[in-house]
Amino acid sequence: MADSDGFIVVKKGKGRRPRPNRDCVSSSTEVFDRNKSDHDIDLGRVKEKIHLLRDELKCSEFYTNVLDQLKQCCLTVYQERKKQDSESRCDADLEDVERDVAGLCLNDPPKNTTLPPDMECICYGVGNISGNIIAQYQLGLVMALREDFKLDQDRCFMFDPVFTEGEKQTLRDLHFSIIPVNEEGKRRCPRPALFFLPHCGKAFYNNLLWCNWQPQTLCNIVIIGNSFKAMVERTPERLLKETGLYIMKIQEYTAEIPVSQAFHHSDVFNDMAIHYFPLHRLTTAPRELWEAHDAPVYSQHDAEIILS
Ligand SMILES: C[S@@+](CC[C@H](N)C(=O)[O-])C[C@H]1O[C@@H](n2cnc3c(N)ncnc32)[C@H](O)[C@@H]1O
Repeated sequence: MADSDGFIVVKKGKGRRPRPNRDCVSSSTEVFDRNKSDHDIDLGRVKEKIHLLRDELKCSEFYTNVLDQLKQCCLTVYQERKKQDSESRCDADLEDVERDVAGLCLNDPPKNTTLPPDMECICYGVGNISGNIIAQYQLGLVMALREDFKLDQDRCFMFDPVFTEGEKQTLRDLHFSIIPVNEEGKRRCPRPALFFLPHCGKAFYNNLLWCNWQPQTLCNIVIIGNSFKAMVERTPERLLKETGLYIMKIQEYTAEIPVSQAFHHSDVFNDMAIHYFPLHRLTTAPRELWEAHDAPVYSQHDAEIILS
């Protein structure tokens, strides 16, 4: 049953009543009503609500944990990248490089809350931000991280094929750039990139890995998304080979840090982890791992992804 705000309330337990207060920012039991058009939705109010959720998140222990974990991952990516860049310079003096990288822990990146200077943030699959409270919280998290990492609009990207025109404008107003085409997760990462793929289908991760299938680009990527470990453990191998072959191949070379489950809504950030691909691990993989590199093919039915 839809309430006066047009949300459909999903009852979580037997006999529980829908929450009467629709303004309560801490209910995650609301589901977007797809019958509503942009005209029916007060996008100004949506923006205000997302700001409130961002602020609520920023005060949480959950957020403090995620931010600390992410800083550590990004620092590792930055250090490895810097070391790789230096090593590839013909005139590099190895001792200087080692000293430089060791010094990063203390002094560099210069302000210790920044990402690697040219890092981008890409968010796929957050869902309908005008009515879905899970999407709103997830967007709130990206906004909080973006602020703490001081990322500009031209380095912060969003895409979900379900975004309405009003939602796209709302996201631009919130200083995100909308990716103009459906990339299906196939985004090349010659520079460091932080991906947020909350509860997205395996095909996204699989496409992203396939598209960057060499140590020098994979090591640029940090992913906040569904735990690879859980995907591999919970999916029968035959199915995983169809929709997540590259997840399966890379898992043993992946550094995975579970996202804190301290958040008070169990359905917003559950089953998520931060993943990155340390170069020193990738370079231990056999050459054949990188050579077998066929493009993934999915059937629309299996892949949990809207294809372009
Ligand atoms: C399982 S839902 C997750 C929604 C929300 N993030 C959550 O945690 O409930 C997967 C999301 O991926 C989006 N999606 C599907 N294909 C996509 C594509 N090609 N690019 C970006 N997002 C896509 C869907 O529209 C949907 O919002």
